[in-house]
Parts: sequence; structure tokens; C-alpha cells
Amino acid sequence: MGYVITKKEILNESVVRLNILAPDVAKAARPGQFVIIRVDEMGERIPLTIFKVEEGNVSIIIQIVGATTYKLSCLEVGDSLATLVGPLGRPSEIDGYKRALVIGGGVGSAIAYPIAKGFIDRGTKTSVILGFRNKDLVILEDEFKKITSDTYIYTDDGSYGNKGFVTSGLEELIKSGESFDICFVIGPIMMMKNVSLLTKKYDIKTIVSMNPIMIDGTGMCGCCRLMVDGKMKFACIDGPDFDGHKVDYDEMISRNLMYKEEEKKARDDSCNLFKGASNGK
Ligand code: FAD
Ligand code: FES
Ligand code: MG
Repeated sequence: MGYVITKKEILNESVVRLNILAPDVAKAARPGQFVIIRVDEMGERIPLTIFKVEEGNVSIIIQIVGATTYKLSCLEVGDSLATLVGPLGRPSEIDGYKRALVIGGGVGSAIAYPIAKGFIDRGTKTSVILGFRNKDLVILEDEFKKITSDTYIYTDDGSYGNKGFVTSGLEELIKSGESFDICFVIGPIMMMKNVSLLTKKYDIKTIVSMNPIMIDGTGMCGCCRLMVDGKMKFACIDGPDFDGHKVDYDEMISRNLMYKEEEKKARDDSCNLFKGASNGK
């Protein structure tokens, strides 16, 4: 029977939100944890962060980047996923801070949301900076503004909010006299690297959420390994959160590009298949 989709919302041209009925996973989920899903019995396994839990449902936000995320985005309410395993990963460590900054870039904002909410629920004064390439790609602004009015939107081209990268937002806050005892950054690897370089300069403890390729999600396949402070770690069981000042970002970038050719072929095949299906072929 699988895991039934109970709600679908299109957030922009390449981002979709799905609610999936999974009461046991929803009950156990903590901020920062993820699930691994398979769309169908033949499908590959992909990790997606638990954005929210709502009445026994796990809510996920998906950026369409390749074959599996595309297939997932084509599902409708009433359809089901073959597999949903979780919650996986270590929950984010968000206890005991007075002043937090949470930074999200693109779909990383969806992963940043439960962390920001977790801080706020614990009484931590929290600021949020969200960065997008342009106005059309802005997501979750209302959701964040509901939990903190201290939310700043940045777009690379200035078509919405403030013009610039999230690092500009961080510099602005620091120049205005703010100080933070923790900064969480979630987004493209280069963004996490650049923010971490800046926070090192200001001596702010920084945690990044790493997104290597994962298969089993339980520490057995070794696929999600990365180097942190010269030591090998597995993102699925040791992370996905790591000290942003100690991650080897360049190694991570090259590992994530390992299957580029295969991913392109799968994407082309799946798009043709789905185009055919929607044409009634
Ligand atoms: P493909 O064309 O197959 O791959 C595109 C790129 O996605 C690859 O180059 C690689 O960098 C990455 N990728 C491919 N396969 C995997 C895999 N099995 N595991 C991890 N990365 C892969 N994306 C979201 O949109 N929303 C989320 O909430 C989210 N949370 C994540 C949480 C974790 C812990 C991790 C590790 C990743 C998360 N991702 C999230 C990324 C998401 O898993 C990938 O975008 C997805 O697997 C791409 O699959 P694809 O077949 O559509 O694309
Ligand atoms: Fe296999 Fe982490 S996904 S070890
Ligand atoms: Mg894929």
C-alpha cells in the first residue's frame, strides 16, 4: 500500500511540498532529521529533510534537480511512495543557546526551518537570513515570518528583498552590533563554505548541514563519507550537521559530482517517460 500523499503544494516552478502519511515517523522526528524515500519498487533511494510534522504526516519540500525528484514532483494526492524510512540522522543540537542565527539558501531554507523553529520553541532569540537567486525562487517567507519577525530575505539580483548574498546579510547584522553564539547554515556547498569562512573571522560557532550522496542512511554503504577535521565521517549517522569550520568542502563537491553522466542520462530518460505519459502515450 505504501505511504500515501495527503497534500501537495507547488511552491515555485522547481519546488514542491508533499505531506505523506507516516504517523510513526512523524511522532519520532526531531529538528534536523531526514527520511529516505523510494518513489516506486524500482526506484533509487534519496534523502529528504523533514520540514514539518502535521497530524501524523511528514511534510517534505523537494527541489526538482534530477530523475527521482522529478518523478516525486509528478505524484498527486492519493498516490503513494513505495518506501519511507526514518527519522534518520542525528537531531540538530539546538539546546542551551541565547542568540542564534539561521541561514538558508534556496531549498536549504526548507531544511533551515525546523532548526529555526526549534531554537524559537526553546526560547532562543533567533534571526534568519534566507538567500535566493531571484524573486521567482523565494520560498517559505511567510512561514519564517510567522515564527520570527527578524527574517531577512536576500536575492542575488536584488529583484526581491535586499540585494546580495547571505554573507552580505551576515555582515550587515554584525555591523549593526548583533552578536551570535551559534550560526546554522544550510544551502549550496559553496554558500556554506563562504559563510563558514566569514563566521570564522568573527569567531562564531558554525554548524552546516551536509548533503552527500546517500543510499542506506544507516552507516553501512559508506557512500555519504566526508572529511571533517581530517577524520572520516558518515553524514547519515554522524551528521548531517557538522562543524562548518572543519569540513573539507572541496572534497565534498567533487564526490557529489561523481555520477554526473549517469544522473544526466536518468534525468533525460525520466523526463521523456513522463512527457510520454502526460501525452497519453
Ligand atoms: P540526480 O540527478 O540523481 O542528482 C542530482 C544531484 O543530487 C547529484 O549531483 C548529487 O549531488 C545529489 N544526489 C543524487 N543522488 C543522491 C542521493 N541518493 N543522496 C543524496 N544526494 C543525491 N533535497 C531537497 O530538495 N529537499 C530536502 O529537504 C533535502 N534534504 C536532504 C537531506 C540530506 C541529509 C541529504 C544528504 C540530501 C538532501 N536533499 C534534499 C538532496 C536530495 O537528496 C537530492 O537532491 C536528490 O537525491 C537528487 O535526486 P535526483 O535523482 O532527483 O537527482
Ligand atoms: Fe550509507 Fe551513510 S548513506 S553510510
Ligand atoms: Mg538520481
